[in-house]
Amino acid sequence: MWQGRRVVLGVTGGIAAYKSVLLARGLTELGATVDVVLTRGAREFVGPVTFEAVTHRPVRGSLWDRDGALDHVTLGRAADLIIVAPATAHLLARAAAGMADDLLTALLLATPSPVLIAPAMNDEMFANPATQANLALLRGRGWTVAGPVAGPLAEGPSDRLGRMMEPDQVLGHAERVLRRAGPLAGRRVVVTAGPTREPIDPVRVISNRSSGRMGYRLAEAAWRRGADVTLISGPTALIPPVGVTLVRVETTEELAGAVGRALPETDVLLMAAAPADFRPATVLKGKKPRVEGAQTLELVPTSDILLSTIGHRPPAMTVVGFALETGDAVAQGRAKLRNKSLDLIVINDALQPGAGFDVDTNIVTILDKKGGEESVTLRSKAAVAEAILDAVERYRD
Ligand code: CTP
Repeated sequence: MWQGRRVVLGVTGGIAAYKSVLLARGLTELGATVDVVLTRGAREFVGPVTFEAVTHRPVRGSLWDRDGALDHVTLGRAADLIIVAPATAHLLARAAAGMADDLLTALLLATPSPVLIAPAMNDEMFANPATQANLALLRGRGWTVAGPVAGPLAEGPSDRLGRMMEPDQVLGHAERVLRRAGPLAGRRVVVTAGPTREPIDPVRVISNRSSGRMGYRLAEAAWRRGADVTLISGPTALIPPVGVTLVRVETTEELAGAVGRALPETDVLLMAAAPADFRPATVLKGKKPRVEGAQTLELVPTSDILLSTIGHRPPAMTVVGFALETGDAVAQGRAKLRNKSLDLIVINDALQPGAGFDVDTNIVTILDKKGGEESVTLRSKAAVAEAILDAVERYRD
């Protein structure tokens, strides 16, 4: 995705400039060519040598140095994306006014490329109507604004907006901007993730070992591809990915309800959750005390959510099921593809090391209804998520 892309990273004078070093390094590691432009203020916080060390390229700073006075035109024209992080209130004001009094503002005025800004400033400065008006103007001109977020500021704790978004989140926004013409851009994607929990009594539950990681990675990757993502999640300890709408559920019936409500508006359903297939026939009102001897728990089946969507699916919707198998995984997966009327199924063999619930990697086979079959070898769940979305895009093409 980033290989061969050119990014101009403008850095302005805020304490969050140190975060931009990580952003520059992350982009470079992903294969992008990163030209850093520092304002005078930025140099007070982080020097050019640091950025040059992580980008392996000269840092620009003035309209008048290096290759001469045309940097602002050539750099801006060659870039696939301009990122300004951190963007101070002063930079927003200068950009909104169309000023061109240094290399960064001149470049922003001269560029035809998409612009992403990550504001960072004192919370009062951010809340000030002048700053808000400048941001509204810049948004109206098509710029994308990432953050700021709430959290500690340089001058101390704050629960108000002002802090720069973390570098990996800015990177997510950057990818979303670049992919805004891609096949999933603007599509409504629903991802289910994690286990469900079926109560036995007010304190005990039946559940499974699903961590939710595969679903969370899928939601994150789909959002980066420009989709509007709803993540319906069973109980997990994971941090929700930036940008997605999170719906929390507990039981399989709640999951079924949330999927049913989202269904009419859904373009792609990725059913990565591991819903409990059974629940206790009755839920005890009080905590069951310990008693001597064996105990029997009567279980009844929950509804099969994918099956129950048949007949209610929008005609153009793509339905992706997941199967965790222990026997002949591909044959069992193929049967589920048919029986649940799926477009694609992602199969993993729970007994293979590096695959399944508790690890951050996966090995999968992706089958589709048209006869496609792809083996995805051992890799991180984030990379498997990309392979799954590539398969979905190809299938819908
Ligand atoms: N699934 C579902 N509703 C359930 C259970 C599972 O929609 N009550 C979905 C899962 O989210 C997954 C797919 O069905 O996308 C296959 O899940 P899996 O547990 O492998 O299949 P089951 O149909 O439950 O079959 P079995 O457990 O017998 O292998």
